[in-house]
Amino acid sequence: MPQTKIAGIGKYVPENVVTNNDLTAFIDTSDEWIQERTGIKERRYAHRTDETTTTMAVKAAEIALQRAGITAQEVDFIIFATLSPDYYFPGCGVLVQRAMKMKEIGALDIRNQCSGFVYAISVADQFIKTGMYKNILVIGSEKHSFGLDFSTRGRNISVIFGDGAGAVVLQPTEQPGILSTHLHSDGDSAEVLAMYNPGTHANHWVDTPVATFDDAPRGEMFMSHSMIDSAQNFPYMDGPAVFKKAVVKFPEVIMEALHQNNLQTSDIDLLIPHQANLRIAQFVQQKLQLSDDKVFNNIEKYGNTTAASIPIALCEAWEAGKIKEGDLVCLAAFGSGFTWGSALLRW
Ligand code: ACO
Repeated sequence: MPQTKIAGIGKYVPENVVTNNDLTAFIDTSDEWIQERTGIKERRYAHRTDETTTTMAVKAAEIALQRAGITAQEVDFIIFATLSPDYYFPGCGVLVQRAMKMKEIGALDIRNQCSGFVYAISVADQFIKTGMYKNILVIGSEKHSFGLDFSTRGRNISVIFGDGAGAVVLQPTEQPGILSTHLHSDGDSAEVLAMYNPGTHANHWVDTPVATFDDAPRGEMFMSHSMIDSAQNFPYMDGPAVFKKAVVKFPEVIMEALHQNNLQTSDIDLLIPHQANLRIAQFVQQKLQLSDDKVFNNIEKYGNTTAASIPIALCEAWEAGKIKEGDLVCLAAFGSGFTWGSALLRW
């Protein structure tokens, strides 16, 4: 059976740097509050009109393809992870297919938020191992800056997010590559970290914790004015609830991957956690007793870029020479859903 390797990796972050102090011009917040709670110093915001989730993805993908030594026409499947697609539908995968003039290949969007990239890698791994595809382009890209609540109501979440994209090309290999992937979900907390609209839940099948919207009659537009007024078109997060679950599930899913492969935490050469919050990553590091050089964080520069955070961090770690051939690399993510997962790979 073929194994799966990362043959090429690329990233793109917008030029526009937005520091915490820059945010204080339009949000009631402070550099001190943001750094102390999240470790974030600055993030990138995409150009309002000229950059989209897809255009950023294409830039990251071009680098990944070039490093893998293949052309866009040789890609035989696209998997695109994002929570901020250009359109509500269709997904961004087909927009990449069009923009990069690819063949009429399959394109799949994955809507698993912070763990979207790990889910995408896992799906791609199955396609490679069964021999169905040979060059899969996996992308994580987000343009959060366009849809954040910059009022005091949404400041706990709006200061966290940043924009950017990362991409990898997965190919078959004889050597061990992706050793295993592990995916989980617990929908009990679906409303703890969510954006309710556009959605079709207005008939109250869900008792949302911030529900103040009027009933929208069937057939009405996706978003009524009352929904917009009640901020249901912005991400909502119960931060402490997310924190509490994340610090349990991150270590658990990393240990699950290690156990399955008869490995121990001391075997990890580099852990790349989803860049949710530096405090969460530090907690996980402490719990697994990993030294500083075994955990890669770049949240201070880019904030939380959701599905893009792992491929951006992986790319940056690789470019900095922190990943060598044969290294054991662990990717782990936790986020909205809740969904979480890990991928263990030999580089
Ligand atoms: N600036 C200043 N004050 C703020 C801000 C802000 N940006 N946001 C919230 N506050 C205030 C609140 O109004 C509140 O004030 P009060 O005590 O007067 O009522 C106070 O700070 C505490 O608010 P909390 O929401 O309880 O803030 P908390 O201390 O929990 O920190 C944070 C918020 C950083 C989001 C934290 O809960 C956290 O780290 N949660 C983990 C979730 C996470 O990292 N999510 C990332 C996205 S999801 C993912 O990727 C997994």
